[in-house]
Amino acid sequence: MNIQWNAEKYTSDFSFVYQYGSAVTELIEADPGSAVLDLGCGNGALSKTLKDKGYVVTGIDASADQLAIAREKYPDISFCQADAADFSLPEPVDVVFSNAVFHWIDKEKQPQMLKCVREGLKEGGQFVFEMGGYGNNQRIHKALAEAFARHGYGYTNPFYFPSVGEYASLLEREGFQVRYALLFDRPTELKGENGLADWIRMFVKRPFSVVSSGEEQNAIIEEAAEGLRGQLCQSGIWYADYVRLRMRAVKN
Ligand code: BEZ
Repeated sequence: MNIQWNAEKYTSDFSFVYQYGSAVTELIEADPGSAVLDLGCGNGALSKTLKDKGYVVTGIDASADQLAIAREKYPDISFCQADAADFSLPEPVDVVFSNAVFHWIDKEKQPQMLKCVREGLKEGGQFVFEMGGYGNNQRIHKALAEAFARHGYGYTNPFYFPSVGEYASLLEREGFQVRYALLFDRPTELKGENGLADWIRMFVKRPFSVVSSGEEQNAIIEEAAEGLRGQLCQSGIWYADYVRLRMRAVKN
């Protein structure tokens, strides 16, 4: 995964990530008592939602800071530290669930991640997830690219936001049958009067590695956010232009 999390700020100011994720758990078709892996569980909030539905839950995340929060808040759930593209389970599970994680994994690593998921599932097991889909945050990345260019830097979107067709093909190649797929817009309210600038500071890290001065980084962020005020700020409330890809697949 291509980020160092500020886990406490994520929990306090970006709670919409896991609040929206609750709806994704409803795509799971499994009886209470089924074993569910929450892949990229972060602070464990959705692991808890899954446990409350009666599933036997294990959470995996790469971030020690996020896991420290998860273990403290939910001591009766089992959490392990591992990379989503490099993990194995002691026993296969009925369901692998994931919310808002896979867009952090580079395109080249997705097949490796899907191999781990398939290995971790029982025969006929389900794979239910949501991630950023094709066109996610398009306006934000365009505004950032333009601000970077004005300062003389190149910009590469650090995320992987696939279309339904692209990801369905990948799943089929990796031994899954796709049973449900939906790509939809979900404008997402951000907290605070600097909502978009704060969002960029929290989530868009890698492109800024070429900008050594903190002052110039801030100038780029402010320029990009201000340029989007007319499109993404209504009555003083900022919205990020999220597009979600939601899927359910089964292991062949
Ligand atoms: C998302 O959930 O789509 C997302 C969150 C942060 C950065 C990029 C995408």
